[in-house]
Amino acid sequence: MAITPLRCNLRQGGCYRSYRNGSIYWSTATGAHMTVGAIAGRWASLNWERGFLGYPTTDENCTLVNSGCVQKFQGGRIYWQPNTGANPIAGGIGFHWDQTAAERGPLGYPISGENCALVAGGCVQNFQGGYVYWQPSIGSHAVHGALGAKWVQMGYELSPLGYPVSDESCGGTPLSCSQYFQGGTITWPTFAGVSVTPSPSSTGVVVNKRRPNSPMNQTPPDLVWVGSQLMRSEAAWQFSQLVSGASAAGVPVTTVSGFRSYDTQVGLYNSYVSQYGRAVADTISARPGFSEHQTGLVMDVGNPNGACSLQACFENTPAGEFVRNHAWQYGFIIRYTWANDWATGYTYEPWHLRYIGVRTATDMHNRGYQTLEQHFGLAAAPTY
Ligand code: DAL
Ligand code: ZN
Repeated sequence: MAITPLRCNLRQGGCYRSYRNGSIYWSTATGAHMTVGAIAGRWASLNWERGFLGYPTTDENCTLVNSGCVQKFQGGRIYWQPNTGANPIAGGIGFHWDQTAAERGPLGYPISGENCALVAGGCVQNFQGGYVYWQPSIGSHAVHGALGAKWVQMGYELSPLGYPVSDESCGGTPLSCSQYFQGGTITWPTFAGVSVTPSPSSTGVVVNKRRPNSPMNQTPPDLVWVGSQLMRSEAAWQFSQLVSGASAAGVPVTTVSGFRSYDTQVGLYNSYVSQYGRAVADTISARPGFSEHQTGLVMDVGNPNGACSLQACFENTPAGEFVRNHAWQYGFIIRYTWANDWATGYTYEPWHLRYIGVRTATDMHNRGYQTLEQHFGLAAAPTY
C-alpha cells in the first residue's frame, strides 16, 4: 500500500512513490524499479537519483555468492552482503574490479565507497580481499595479498613506492609474483618472504656494496642547497625541518657532507686507502659509484663545535642524541647502525642520515628494523 502519493518532480521528469517497505522510482530512460532495504539506504546517502548513481536500472538481484545482492543504477551499482553492508561500485575502479571477477574474485565485495582524497588526485576503494587504487595518469590497479601487505606496511601510496602501476603478475616454476609501483617493484616469495626493489630514481633507492648507483656516475636531477651542502629537494626540505626541530629543542645540528659526486668520491676513497689501506678504507668509505651520498638522499651531520665529528662517540653528543631519537620523525634513518656491518659492510656511522620518507622511517622505527636491507628484504651487502 502506498504511503505517499505519486510525486513527479524529480530529475529528468522522473517519479516515485513510497510504500511501507521501499519505493518505486520511474523515469523514461530507466522504467520503474523498486528500491528497498540497505541498498535503498545507501542510494539515499549518495543523494538518490540526483547523485552520481542516477536512477535504478534494475531491481535488486539477490542471487550472488555469499548471500549478496546487487542493484544496477545509471551511474554504477550497489552491492550488499551480510558482512559488508551496502557499498557503491562505479567508474574505473568498478571496471577494474569486474576484470578481477568482481565479488567472485580475490577481492570479494566492497567494504567501503571510494575515498578520493589521496595525493595526486588518487582514489581508493577497500574490498574484503584488498584494495583497488585509481589515479588519473595511471588508471586502476588492485593491491592484495603478501605484496599488498608489504606496500601497506611501507606507507601505501605515501611510501617511496608510490601508486601501483600494474597488477600483481605471477608465473614461473617455482611460482613467483611481482607487482610494479611508481617507485619500484615488490616480489614474493623470496628468501626474505617479500622483497622490495626500489627504482634508481626513487627516494627509496637502495645503494650498497652490491647495488651501485645507476648509472654509476649519476647525478640526481633535483639537487638544492641545504646549509653548505646539496640534497635532493624532498630530502632537503625534510632535513631543514629536522634542523628546525632540533633547534627548537635547543640542539644545533650542522651539515658536514651531503651529495657527493662520483668524482668527489674517487678522491675521498683514494685518500682513505692511502691513509689506512684498502681493507680498512672499505669499512669506512664507499668506492666510487657505490656511495649513498651520490643519491642526494644523505646528510652527514655534526655539532657546531665539531665534537666527535665523524666518530662513533658522536652518538653521545647533543646532535648525535637528537638524530638517534628523532631523525625518523622527519623521514631519516641512521643508515649504518651499530654492529650491522654484516649487512651494510660499514662500521657504525651515527652521523650518516639517509632520507627514506616519514612513512617508511616510522615503520622501521616501530618495528625496530636496523637496516634498509632488512626492511626491504634485500640481500646483505658486507662486501663488493
Ligand atoms: N661513509 C659512507 C659509507 C660513504 O662513503 O658513502
Ligand atoms: Zn655519510
